[in-house]
Amino acid sequence: TLIANGIMASINQQVDFDTAAIVLEELGYEARSETEAAQEEAEARRVEEMTKKWEQIYAGEKSEDLKPRSPVVTILGHVDHGKTTLLDNIRHTHVAEGEAGGITQAIGAYRAKHNDRYITFLDTPGHEAFTAMRARGAQGADIAILVVAADDGVMPTTREALNHARAANVPIVVAITKVDKQNASPERVKQQLSELELVPDDWDGDTLMVPVAALQGEGIDDLLEAVLLVADDNDFVANPKGTPKGIVIEAQVDKFRGTLATLLVLNGTLKVGDSIIAGTSHGRIKAMYDEFGNNIKEAGPSVPVSVLGLDEPPQPGDRFERLKNDKEARAIADERKLEKESVASQPAPALTLEDIFSQF
Ligand code: GTP
Ligand code: MG
Repeated sequence: TLIANGIMASINQQVDFDTAAIVLEELGYEARSETEAAQEEAEARRVEEMTKKWEQIYAGEKSEDLKPRSPVVTILGHVDHGKTTLLDNIRHTHVAEGEAGGITQAIGAYRAKHNDRYITFLDTPGHEAFTAMRARGAQGADIAILVVAADDGVMPTTREALNHARAANVPIVVAITKVDKQNASPERVKQQLSELELVPDDWDGDTLMVPVAALQGEGIDDLLEAVLLVADDNDFVANPKGTPKGIVIEAQVDKFRGTLATLLVLNGTLKVGDSIIAGTSHGRIKAMYDEFGNNIKEAGPSVPVSVLGLDEPPQPGDRFERLKNDKEARAIADERKLEKESVASQPAPALTLEDIFSQF
């Protein structure tokens, strides 16, 4: 085939990839470079792992009952790289300005609309002290936006956040922020991310990287388009009529109203009056509020909601689920508490010499 194409090659001669690809095509095969093949395999593994994660949540639902739901997007990145400002611009709010020291210290859950489609956002802190919150934020999401400031580049928490997103098997979209700054260098960010095997699509990789200037509102639409493109490539589904289930985003005790827990519904529709268990907490939902504090009666898949009625604050990251009634919820909560106590009170197993030597 080479000779027929005018290349007088001998049997031992090396040909370049493009030539080999032409020959293979003529012979009825498709050529893939090793990097392409590795990328495709990694992507296939990611999809498989993510599917396993969702199957736990939809266990018991019939596949014909599963309907598309809006994507849940976690915003991750190094401290001060512009995560909250980005979200403020998307939602037309001013959360960043009101934060103590300009630093995010809890996970916030919000919804925004783009082209008539909802997207749920989880804002996470970038300060190095909040590793666990970033990990939980990534676990609860469908997609991660990795925020990297164009003037600062890849920093330690950028790498940590990338690892959380990879551990959670979620697809990643990169927002290169602060491109309006004098010393901004989006190209350097792309170079640094490529070294971490996150290769931009305009460099033949498969990661969408969108430059934004959040204070000016530039690039925001492109970023949301990119998120929706990735969402369309994945099937995010739930049964809105199934068993209400999801995860705890955060929880605190309100002096006047009792335990206020922010939940993200991932399946079913949670309603006022439902009895739920969340980790070792339980209770009947007395009231529900949306992100603006408005009273609501129910919340479907991908909707974040604050609820009153749990006996004590559950842990962020705990799974919650609706049960038949509060009696059942209390029984399971008591069982879990006992289990926890017995694990905590067990003496640590004595070390044998073998244990010690096995460490070397
Ligand atoms: P943590 O949550 O504490 O990790 O910070 P963050 O990533 O949420 O950063 P935040 O949005 O609070 O922004 C940090 C600082 O960067 C603020 O002073 C913002 O005004 C500024 N900033 C954010 N986005 C931009 C941008 O696009 N351009 C410029 N010039 N400044 C920005
Ligand atoms: Mg923030």
